[in-house]
Amino acid sequence: MKGLFGNHLFGAYPAPTSIILVVQFLVILPAKCSATAMFVFGDSLVDSGNNNFIGSIAKANFLPNGVDYPTHAPTGRFCNGKIIPDFLSDYMGASPILPILDPNAKGENLLRGANFASAGVGILDDTGAIFSRRLIMPQQFQLFQQYQRDVTLLIGEAGTKSLISKALFSFTVGGNDYINNYLLPFSTRAKKFTPPRYRQLLISTFREQLKKAYTLGARKVTVSNMGPIGCIPSQLAMSSQNGTCIPAVEQYATDFNSDLRVMLQELNRKLPGATFSYVNGYDMIMDYIKNPALYGFESSNKACCGQGAFNGLFVCTAVSSLCPNRSSYIFWDPFHPTDTVNTLIAKRIFTGPPSDISPVNVSKLLS
Ligand SMILES: *[C@@H]1O[C@H](CO)[C@@H](O)[C@H](O)[C@H]1NC(C)=O
Ligand SMILES: *[C@@H]1O[C@H](CO)[C@@H](O)[C@H](O)[C@H]1NC(C)=O
Ligand SMILES: *[C@@H]1O[C@H](CO)[C@@H](O)[C@H](O)[C@H]1NC(C)=O
Repeated sequence: MKGLFGNHLFGAYPAPTSIILVVQFLVILPAKCSATAMFVFGDSLVDSGNNNFIGSIAKANFLPNGVDYPTHAPTGRFCNGKIIPDFLSDYMGASPILPILDPNAKGENLLRGANFASAGVGILDDTGAIFSRRLIMPQQFQLFQQYQRDVTLLIGEAGTKSLISKALFSFTVGGNDYINNYLLPFSTRAKKFTPPRYRQLLISTFREQLKKAYTLGARKVTVSNMGPIGCIPSQLAMSSQNGTCIPAVEQYATDFNSDLRVMLQELNRKLPGATFSYVNGYDMIMDYIKNPALYGFESSNKACCGQGAFNGLFVCTAVSSLCPNRSSYIFWDPFHPTDTVNTLIAKRIFTGPPSDISPVNVSKLLS
């Protein structure tokens, strides 16, 4: 790990060698520290480009991904435009945080936080193995610990501790444990578990990961529940004749979500000083799927960019069929929402009622 990734971090950043540099640090850094930092962990829903820098086949650094991003260029985000962490940065008045493997993620840029997410990962280490390299959750934590050491060199131990305790932590992971593990015909290890036991394994592993985040200093944490994976175009292409959601797959998500909610309530009771807010992405997206016209969506079960039935086969590439109007689609590609949906969800995460995010929304969490 260190050999592979160490160079991207502070290890390669020249240490201050002159009085002038030291003075600059003293003068400049306190002002920048006042902005709230954000740390993002999880999968392709929130990966802002880490997989660009590793030998993964889960990549989105080619058009038409990014066609509606401010630069109109692909960035590695699995979206036509911005993803939820980008919109949260907007709300927080900050520029988007960088993927931790980005060569620019060093020095002062680190003080805004960093994105550790990696497309293809799940809660379990073996999820997403079909994509080859990816930053599995233990590696995301290892990189966060390296981040803490690097920032300590910049602003000292107390400064780092304060930055982290005030920061927003966000976790979005779990869908791939079904889509790219349990539901795959050749997932022999996962298939040894009955659905309830597999779910218990996911929840208990996730609980340990969230406790680890707490141990590392996280105090303001959002945890996304599992979206309606039985309604995404890739699942529809495989198992739906008429484009309605697959009930058995939906059940995996709703059962997981009930257990996740209870697990977070337990963490809120047991871990003093921390708040884990449950983000109800499932109901938000179902709301759009069930009432598309209400939000200006014409298509609720077809990807904008893809091929085959429901445009749900394979991934979005330059040779895919592309819809003319991205903002009238809920799904960008067979797996991921459009930036129109991401902006709606981010707004609800920031200021929504308890049915969207509980016990508190992000504006309250950060106040
Ligand atoms: C779609 O197909 C499923 C399974 O074949 C069936 O149960 C459902 O009633 C159908 N829905 C519509 C709206 O035709
Ligand atoms: C694209 O779709 C959005 C949402 O339905 C709509 O408001 C807009 O007018 C459409 N744009 C075009 C060029 O059709
Ligand atoms: C978001 O949280 C704040 C603070 O608790 C609260 O005042 C506001 O009403 C919440 N938003 C909604 C829509 O409930």
